[in-house]
Amino acid sequence: MTTELGRLIAHRIALTGPISIADFMAEALGHPRLGYYRRALPLGAPGDFTTAPEISQMFGELLGAWLADRWLAMASPAPVRLVELGPGRGTLMADALRATRGVPGFHAALDLHLVETNAPLREAQRAALNGFAPTWHERLDDVPAGPLLLIANEFFDALPVRQFHRTAEGWRERMVGLAADGTLRLALAPGPTPFAAALPEAAPGAETELSEAGRALAAALGMRLGRDGGWALIVDYGYDQSGLGSSLQAVRGHRGADILDRPGETDLSTHVDFAALAAASGVRSFGPVGQGDFLCRLGIAERAGTLKRHASPEQVRAIDAALARLIAPDQMGTLFRVLALGDDRSAQPAGFSDTPSDTT
Ligand SMILES: C[S@@+](CC[C@H](N)C(=O)[O-])C[C@H]1O[C@@H](n2cnc3c(N)ncnc32)[C@H](O)[C@@H]1O
Repeated sequence: MTTELGRLIAHRIALTGPISIADFMAEALGHPRLGYYRRALPLGAPGDFTTAPEISQMFGELLGAWLADRWLAMASPAPVRLVELGPGRGTLMADALRATRGVPGFHAALDLHLVETNAPLREAQRAALNGFAPTWHERLDDVPAGPLLLIANEFFDALPVRQFHRTAEGWRERMVGLAADGTLRLALAPGPTPFAAALPEAAPGAETELSEAGRALAAALGMRLGRDGGWALIVDYGYDQSGLGSSLQAVRGHRGADILDRPGETDLSTHVDFAALAAASGVRSFGPVGQGDFLCRLGIAERAGTLKRHASPEQVRAIDAALARLIAPDQMGTLFRVLALGDDRSAQPAGFSDTPSDTT
């Protein structure tokens, strides 16, 4: 049994022919009424996955400190657009704002913008950020111009990718078509792809992915940073160098699923190609570095120590478990990468090397 959205996609394919994986992802995640990120409340224990800010307040607090430091390094512009892409329940931003209350002038300078397509999550964000008067947008392009501080945690992994398979004849795009019984199925396009020139050299049998949406967003972000000044911090699971492999995965109810299974009820995500994002931005980039190294350089162990001082034994265990989850190499510490994009006008950001910041 497929979903209503699965039937709509099959109908579209029957009428107009096979669609790319990217088009399938765009429908499955973003369909205005039935898309996964439009209707479900996917975050937290009853949902499909848990994210770093939901694991511990320390994550948002340290990212907040990073943002405030960037604001000071930019010579404290007012107003500054503080933007979050895909803020989830608003937890990260609420923790970041609470942690930066004491930075003189910072909150008075902030103009908060949230890019979020999910109506129930917008309501959760409204409740979490009561008092900060956020403005919501469907797209980054709708955020007004001006100096920018932007964060995106687990946002780029939800953007559509195209997938390619190297045959003996060259790269062929993987498409979503219909089986004889009318159900969705994957098949390679019979002819060459116009994207071949953008794909790496590889032997037959290889796979690769390309996210036009991710690159276009990074380019738009870079253009704003270059024009108006500012910084962006992108945190996600992914890889540092573009290359081979397919990473698209489907998750439903905390379990792996088939990517074509129950569109609109299944989360689809990919590993982010950080090199492609940095290159597309056209501005200065730092990292990617592992989330564990990044958070340790920002002082997460010290923050955990402070929280534990007034904690019960049970709370101490919870803080230690959250710390390990965020930074341990076999948990989120290495798979999750952190990339900063910035203008050339302010000093080097914290968290990207063990040496003290220079003052370029
Ligand atoms: C995986 S969740 C991450 C949430 C949050 N950043 C966190 O770390 O808990 C992805 C977020 O991006 C939003 N989202 C996904 N695709 C989007 C799109 N194309 N435009 C705007 N928001 C989107 C989702 O509704 C959700 O808030």
